[in-house]
Amino acid sequence: MNKKKKIDITLKVNGEEVTYSVEPHTNLLRALRDNFNWDVKCGCEAGECGTCTVLLDGIAVKSCLTLAAACEGHEIWTNKGLGYADRLASRLQDAFVECGSVQCGFCTPGFIVVGVDYLKRGGKADRKEIKKAISGNLCRCTGYVKIVDAIYKVAKEIEEGALA
Ligand code: FES
Ligand code: FES
Repeated sequence: MNKKKKIDITLKVNGEEVTYSVEPHTNLLRALRDNFNWDVKCGCEAGECGTCTVLLDGIAVKSCLTLAAACEGHEIWTNKGLGYADRLASRLQDAFVECGSVQCGFCTPGFIVVGVDYLKRGGKADRKEIKKAISGNLCRCTGYVKIVDAIYKVAKEIEEGALA
């Protein structure tokens, strides 16, 4: 039997140091899901839907296009972890509910992570810019307007100092 050799990688996931055993070609999406991070969704696994998006050292990346082994020593945050640990992310999650931005919810973790990335980079309450920021993510249910509304709402709150 041709058993593929596994390697151990150590990284930080949602604030906790973990060691995952992965095959050299395993993508970060599979490594995370194989280790119970089921809030990271697997859609196309080809870089097209964005539902697998996580923060890698603070920057939104599509985990299906990221080699797990390349994440050795790096820091990953998923939507779930961000919701517990990050006030802005938690506020954005609430705003998604308030604005009716969630229908089936499959795309939501990716949009939240992309929204967090946008807001943390100082993204403004500007619908055009928000649309650009989320353009790598797909939603088959909402028509996007309410997703933009939620990110806009939190951006506005930041601008008004309500989240200081
Ligand atoms: S599952 Fe990664 S972009 Fe679709
Ligand atoms: S809410 Fe269903 S895919 Fe976006």
